Amino acid sequence: MYRTHTCGELRIENVGQSVTLAGWVQRVRKMGGMTFVDLRDRYGITQLVFNSETNQELNDRANKLGREFVIQIVGTVNERYSKNANMPTGDIEIIVEELNLLNASEVPPFTIEDQSDGGDDIRMKYRYLDLRRACVRKNLELRHKMCIEVRNYLSNLGFLEVETPMLIGSTPEGARDFVVPSRMNPGQFYALPQSPQTLKQLLMVAGFDRYFQIVKCFRDEDLRADRQPEFTQIDCEMSFVTQEDIIQTFEGMAKHLFKTLRGVELNEPFLRLPWAEAMRRFGSDKPDMRFGMEFVELMDTLKCGIFPVFDNATYIGGICAPGCAVYTRKQLDQLTDFVKRPQIGAKGLVYARVQEDGSVKSSVDKFYNPEQLEALKQKMEAKPGDLILILSGDDAMKTRKQLCELRLEMGERLGLRDKNKFALLWVTEFPMFEWSDEEQRLMAMHHPFTHPMDEDIALLDTDPAAVRADAYDMVCNGIEVGGGSIRIHDPKLQEKMFEILGFTPERAQEQFGFLMNAFKYGAPPHGGLAYGLDRWVSIFAGLDSIRDCIAFPKNNSGRDVMLDAPAAIDQKQLDELFLKVDVK
Ligand code: AMO
Repeated sequence: MYRTHTCGELRIENVGQSVTLAGWVQRVRKMGGMTFVDLRDRYGITQLVFNSETNQELNDRANKLGREFVIQIVGTVNERYSKNANMPTGDIEIIVEELNLLNASEVPPFTIEDQSDGGDDIRMKYRYLDLRRACVRKNLELRHKMCIEVRNYLSNLGFLEVETPMLIGSTPEGARDFVVPSRMNPGQFYALPQSPQTLKQLLMVAGFDRYFQIVKCFRDEDLRADRQPEFTQIDCEMSFVTQEDIIQTFEGMAKHLFKTLRGVELNEPFLRLPWAEAMRRFGSDKPDMRFGMEFVELMDTLKCGIFPVFDNATYIGGICAPGCAVYTRKQLDQLTDFVKRPQIGAKGLVYARVQEDGSVKSSVDKFYNPEQLEALKQKMEAKPGDLILILSGDDAMKTRKQLCELRLEMGERLGLRDKNKFALLWVTEFPMFEWSDEEQRLMAMHHPFTHPMDEDIALLDTDPAAVRADAYDMVCNGIEVGGGSIRIHDPKLQEKMFEILGFTPERAQEQFGFLMNAFKYGAPPHGGLAYGLDRWVSIFAGLDSIRDCIAFPKNNSGRDVMLDAPAAIDQKQLDELFLKVDVK
C-alpha cells in the first residue's frame, strides 16, 4: 500500500497510530539534530520529523531530500509541541521510521507556494508545477464542484446532457472559426463549433425538450482577460417556453450556485434592464452594478453656445465621483491620459470640483459663469467634495462607451468593485441587428436564429435597425456570464432573417439548409441560453482572468507555451491533407 492517509487528513485523534504517507517535499528545515520536512499532496501538508539522535542514518537521508522529491514514509503520529493553528494538520507531526525515495526532482524553476516567485510565462510553461500550488488547484476544485452542481440541478429539472460533435461545418456570422482539414475529403474543412447553437436547436426539433451540455467552444477572436480561444459553456435549450420561463429557470440555477458554492443567498429577483436603458445610464450592455455613479446627460446644461467643444457635441455626459474633489492636478492629468488612450479614444476630459463651500471650480471656468456651473452641480446632484467628470463627442454611443470606461476606472480607484460583492442583472430587449462598418451590412447582434420581439416583427420590413430581439444576457459584476434568446421556429421568418442579413436564398440554403429543412418537420417553439463556465468560476474564485481556472490555458497570443502549440506540421502531413503553406 502506497499510503494509509493523505497529507491533509491526520488530526490529534490519530496520535499514536502508525501511518504511511506519500507526497512531495515542500520544504526541508534543519534545526539542531532534528530535520523537519513538510510533505505535500493535493489534500494538504503534514510535518515529518527526523531525529539524528534516534536514527542518524535516516536523518542524513532526510537532509539530502530536495524540493519536490516524491517520497513515501512510515511513521507514528505524534502530538506537536508547538502547534500551528494555520494548518489543519497543525496539531500533529509524524515521527518517521522509514523513508523511501520514490522519485527525485530537479530544482523547480519557481517556488511552489501561493506567493510564487515565478512570473506568468514561466508558470505557464511549467503549468504542471504551477498546478501543484494550492491556490491554483483550489480554482480547479471549484470548477469541478460547479460542474457537479450544474449537472445535478439541471438533471433534477429533467434536462438531458447530450454531446454534440466537435467537427462540424463552418458557418458565417459570429466570430472566426477554427478549421480542421479533412484528409478523406480533399480540399474540404471541418470547423470547430463556436457553440452548439444549431445542433441544440435540432435536438429541440428531435423532441428532446430540455437539453444541456457542458461543452468546449472555439472562437478565433482577439483575447482578453475574460476570453480564451477555447472555453467552456453550460449550454442549454428548452422547448415550449417563453423568455420568462428561461429567465426563471436559469436565475434559479445562478442562485443555487451562489448558495451552494459561495454561501451567498440571493433572495431578490435579479434586476432587469432593457439594453437601451443600460446604455443610457451606464454606457454598457454589461453594467457593473456594484456601484452607482450613473451617467447624467448634460446637453441642456452645457451646450449653450459658449464652449466650442460642447457646442459641437451630440452627446455630453457626466459622472460624479464622491470625495474626489481633492484630486491633484497630477491625478486629473492621469485621468485625462486614461480617457485619451487609443483603446478608449476620448479627445479630452472636462472636470469640475465641488469645493467644501459648495462653489464649483472647473477646467472650463473661462467659458462658464458661476451660475452655469451651479446649474451643472444641481443637475449632477453633486455634493461638496465631489468631482464631476465630463466627456463629450459627436457619436453618442461611442462617447457613452468612453464614459463607461471612466466610470469603471473611478469605481476601481474608489474601491467600489469589491470582489466579494455580487451584483447580478438581466439585460433584455437587445437590438436585433447592429451595423457592421467592415461588412457594410446589418449583422445579427446575438445570432441569426434569434426571434424578434413579437411587437417589433412588423418593423422587420420597414425599419429593421429598430427591431428588438427576444434575447437576454445575464451580467454579474460587469461581466457577461451568459446569454440566450427565444429562437425562430418558423421557416418563413428564418428565411426573412437571412435575407435581411444579406444572404441570397441559395447561400442561406447552402449554409443553413439543414436547419431550415428541419424546421419543415414540426419544430417546436424553443429558446435557450449558454452560460460561460470559465467566467462563472473566475467570478466565484475572485480571479482577474479566466485563465486561472483553466487547467491548461492559452496565453494572450493564443499559444499553449507548455505544449508549444500551434506549431508547423511535417510536409508529409501537409501532403496528406493537400495543403500548401504560404506564409510571407
Ligand atoms: P454567446 O456567444 O453569448 O452565446 O456565449 C455565451 C456565453 O459564453 C461565454 N463566452 C466566452 N467565455 C470565454 N471566452 C470566450 N471567448 C467566450 N465567448 C463567450 C460568455 C457568454 O455569455 N449559442 C449562444 C447562446 C444561446 O443563444 O443559447 C452563444 O454562444 O459568458
